[in-house]
Amino acid sequence: MNQIINTLKLPKHIAITMDGNGRWAKEKGKNRLFGHNNGVKAVRDTIEGAVEYGIKYITLFAFSTENWNRPKQEVNALMTLLVSSIHKETKTLLDNDIKLQTIGNISKLPNRCQKELCECIDITKENKSMTLILALSYSGKWEIINAVKNIIDSNITKEEISEEIFKQYLTTKNVPDPELLIRTSGEHRISNFMLWQIAYSELYFTDKMWPDFRREDLKKAIINYQNRERRFGKTNKE
Ligand code: IPE
Ligand code: IPE
Ligand code: MG
Repeated sequence: MNQIINTLKLPKHIAITMDGNGRWAKEKGKNRLFGHNNGVKAVRDTIEGAVEYGIKYITLFAFSTENWNRPKQEVNALMTLLVSSIHKETKTLLDNDIKLQTIGNISKLPNRCQKELCECIDITKENKSMTLILALSYSGKWEIINAVKNIIDSNITKEEISEEIFKQYLTTKNVPDPELLIRTSGEHRISNFMLWQIAYSELYFTDKMWPDFRREDLKKAIINYQNRERRFGKTNKE
């Protein structure tokens, strides 16, 4: 298999479900928070790798609607980690010309998180090389229900509704659908992520736990994607 990324066949948008922090820590006899803290290193290296490889959009599933049901202590620790990571990594985003965006029910996040996110989004809004989208308090079903509610509140008629119009009511309205969805930790499921947008995404699963994931693993996933044939329901080219 070709081990070099073909720059003519790059996915524009890669989505990643960053899973396995807790199990990674447990293997080392540490608590779950140790795993989450180490997950931040993986985020930084993956983002820098994505810029290096020429990816235009990367979405990271960082906290799901369902994750609110975890023990309060873990949820609080994750929110604190989010604030400190955004604060520390704003420079990385500026140095790499990365624009930050979020998807999800951001109003449910603690005020300190919302404030830190707003500041970083504002500071990086003119950046052009890549867009980093953090999915926070996000679920695909929530997003679809939210779109339906907003359509009902608009003047759109039933006849006007189409896939293109519907997409305009999703939180990813200005973002192309991900060609590639990566999930770490050996779990083979979607867990309510981007249900509309992944209709034709290529799925890539790796057994690596998220804190061990690095830019080389992203490269491997991109090359694997480039060796697939995307048929979109048609017959193959031969
Ligand atoms: C992913 O790791 C991070 C979040 C979902 C916030 P987990 O915390 O799910 O780790 P595992 O899956 O329990 O190992
Ligand atoms: C999915 O991971 C959500 C994120 C990575 C943020 P989970 O660990 O929450 O998913 P399940 O519960 O194993 O499906
Ligand atoms: Mg998990």
